[in-house]
Amino acid sequence: ARTAAALVVLGLLAGGCVPAAGGGVRGTPGAAGLKDPYYPRLGNGGYDVSRYALDLAYDPDGGHLDGTARITARATQDLSALNLDLSGLTVAGATVDGEPAAVNRAGHELTLRPRDELREGAEFTVTVDYAGVPEPVTDPDGSTEGWLRTPDGAVAVGQPAGSMSWFPGNHHPSDKASYEIALTAPSRLTALSNGVRVSSGPVSGGRTRTVWRQTEPMASYLATVMIGRYETGTATALGDVPVITAAEPSLASATAALRAEIPRILARQQDRFGPYPFSAAGAVVTRDGLLGYALETQTRPVFPASSFDRTTLVHELAHQWYGNSVTPESWRDIWLNEGFATYAEWLYAEEHGSVPARESFASAFADDDNWTFPPADPPAAENLFDPPVYRRGAMVLHKVRETVGDRVFGELLRGWAAKYRHANASTEDFTAYAESVAGRDLDAVWKVWLYGDGRPERP
Ligand code: ARG
Ligand code: ZN
Repeated sequence: ARTAAALVVLGLLAGGCVPAAGGGVRGTPGAAGLKDPYYPRLGNGGYDVSRYALDLAYDPDGGHLDGTARITARATQDLSALNLDLSGLTVAGATVDGEPAAVNRAGHELTLRPRDELREGAEFTVTVDYAGVPEPVTDPDGSTEGWLRTPDGAVAVGQPAGSMSWFPGNHHPSDKASYEIALTAPSRLTALSNGVRVSSGPVSGGRTRTVWRQTEPMASYLATVMIGRYETGTATALGDVPVITAAEPSLASATAALRAEIPRILARQQDRFGPYPFSAAGAVVTRDGLLGYALETQTRPVFPASSFDRTTLVHELAHQWYGNSVTPESWRDIWLNEGFATYAEWLYAEEHGSVPARESFASAFADDDNWTFPPADPPAAENLFDPPVYRRGAMVLHKVRETVGDRVFGELLRGWAAKYRHANASTEDFTAYAESVAGRDLDAVWKVWLYGDGRPERP
């Protein structure tokens, strides 16, 4: 309710549909949030981003970040003003289509008022110059993300709300875009990000500027940066996909063998899930104590040393299909990420560990932690990454498999990834798709396993 009231006030202050000086009707401000059920203020209305170009210079000694974000977007309404999400940092100035724009900040909402209003359908470019020492974001569940400082550099991650701590953007998973991320850092350090490295060369002050490009669409929570001392490894997967891995030097030799398995795991996953959705792959292993979890950052998942094991690697690589290519429409649909990635672990265990998926299912069924809420409806933002999202999500898929049989289930794994490749999908999209592949309704599965409260009598 507070959010709705705030939006109304913002709308009134900014003035909706007032006649403009030159005649005609003025545009209205884009909404300050996309009404996500868990994060109503994440993202912004009135435009759709197609591309981010971030130019980031980082000084590891002071922890100071200097950034320019150049954002290409299309207006989806007549706009008198638009918002971006940015938390902390200082905005030095902004332009819209090359003209200075008025800047206002309130909480993590950055409002830009262009000199000329934007017409619905028009493509426009925003630049924001900003700087400061980024502050990490603490989630409702107590975990930390955003721009995280390390002794020699930084690691930036964003699920679900951390990306606003290091660049202004439309930080909701429903607005995917391509990215080019340029990193300027001391030349003795390695600077990694998503996708492929397109250039790297010296600039002033003993620094190197490295440019990374993620061509395929990416949700902003999957953008990443790693700056620090790393040993890197390169390989090729799937014929022509560059695999770039990195580990902090003290972890390099211990992690080399598992890093080398990425091409083999991807090849098997490609057989099961369909064509790998991106033009690069990899993994980055960091010291423990920085991140409390591994994360599927696009093409370059990141792992704390103690969770760099085969199962977690399989999980984060499976997310490249389920989560990164097929991305949730809202945070309510997070089980589509975590349920599929967990099921990928079960499939791997079935094939390589001789643990049939029905046994993984049985042990998940027996665990009380998995029954606190239905996967389709986490009670609050602090529960988005709780056990029911992962293991009960995987149980839903197993029940579908039992109902339709292995052959149709295999078609469903590939078909789901194909139908929503590089797009967004919701729980309802999934149930409709599964029923179309099954050729019948699957209400009995959804009612009990996806939406039902509590553990059923018998599996
Ligand atoms: N998506 C990550 C995974 O693959 C977990 C992220 C946890 N994040 C959080 N804010 N609790 O398991
Ligand atoms: Zn996951």
